[in-house]
Amino acid sequence: MVTFNRIVSRYYNDYYSPLGTHPQKRPSGRVLFAGGLVALSLLLNLVFVVKYCLRFTSPLDDYQELKQYPLVNTTLARASLPPMSKSKLSENAIVTTLYSDSYAPAVAALGHSLRKVDTSARLIMLYIPSQVSAGALCLAASSGFVPRPVARIAPPHNGSGIAPRFVDQYTKLALWTLDAAPDPVRALVYVDADALVLRNFDELFALPYAFAAVPDVYTDARGFTTNFNAGVMFVRPDSALFADMLAALPAARFPHVMAEQAFLNQFFATDALRLPYAYNGNLALKERNPRVWSGIQREMRIIHYTLIKPFVSKQWDTVPLDRLQHRVDEAARSKGGMFRDEMQHWGRVWQETRTVYAQHLDECRRLSS
Ligand SMILES: *[C@@H]1O[C@H](CO)[C@@H](O)[C@H](O)[C@H]1NC(C)=O
Ligand SMILES: *[C@@H]1O[C@H](CO)[C@@H](O)[C@H](O)[C@H]1NC(C)=O
Repeated sequence: MVTFNRIVSRYYNDYYSPLGTHPQKRPSGRVLFAGGLVALSLLLNLVFVVKYCLRFTSPLDDYQELKQYPLVNTTLARASLPPMSKSKLSENAIVTTLYSDSYAPAVAALGHSLRKVDTSARLIMLYIPSQVSAGALCLAASSGFVPRPVARIAPPHNGSGIAPRFVDQYTKLALWTLDAAPDPVRALVYVDADALVLRNFDELFALPYAFAAVPDVYTDARGFTTNFNAGVMFVRPDSALFADMLAALPAARFPHVMAEQAFLNQFFATDALRLPYAYNGNLALKERNPRVWSGIQREMRIIHYTLIKPFVSKQWDTVPLDRLQHRVDEAARSKGGMFRDEMQHWGRVWQETRTVYAQHLDECRRLSS
């Protein structure tokens, strides 16, 4: 509507101002043309208004907390998981990635949050050796993630159109190769480093599907979507599928700006199992509809710091460890304090990480200096 109003005012200035100065003249073709445009834009504005009034309101936009049942029947879930073996390495893994030093404290905090919920899965961190310093790798691994080097996967189409902060993100596709490792992974839950775990989610490892993720949400007109967010994904690694993905990349039609997330949405379009929001507590959910946020709070497994990241600067740069608490306080104040609780939670988990793994972190500091 704004666009059409602009068009109207532009044509008004161009074509109507001569009318007042030459009232005796008959309307010229130009004036008739301009009048037609005004009428057309009024009509289109009307169509937009009617469409806006008649738009579909999803149960998420109009959320009411009506339910009382638990999200997962843990008795049933445990029965469908193989018994944990102390002698054998688990074939289930929780995997994150480290592409630059700036996310190292985030990975350490995520690892600590996973330890606290006592997961039965292994913790693996994929990292790009040429882009991560020894000190940052040590810090990220301090709370339990086992580093595993991977080759960077370059964006397709020579990186044309991709958002600069996503240029390394195609490396995430290496998740699908973990079945071919000497210690093969059969099922994994990928968790972005800008997340913290609040509750155990081992029930996901029993899923019989190849791929599952949580629907995405936007704070703009798109709102709740059927597209999924690639920050939390259930994946059954499969090297053959990985080869298929790479082969499909050049021909796949998707917005390049959103990198691997847009590609994966295109690739798994009909097949992705949509998981409950509790598995990817994306901060955008709270901004979009705070009632949805409070509705999933009790069951939330993973909180995902999408809109504000309390561990990197506003320009996405590394924050020195002795400035992290200051950054958390700043993040807690942004957007009018909308995410104060969530930012303070990250700050508390980070402080715990520093305390629990103090000795290990001292060694990391020696590596960095
Ligand atoms: C979980 O499932 C089992 C087996 O069907 C059932 O007996 C039990 O009542 C369920 N528990 C809950 C909390 O629904
Ligand atoms: C990518 O860039 C290289 C070198 O600039 C060029 O030779 C090649 O054709 C480009 N490929 C595509 C798919 O644009």
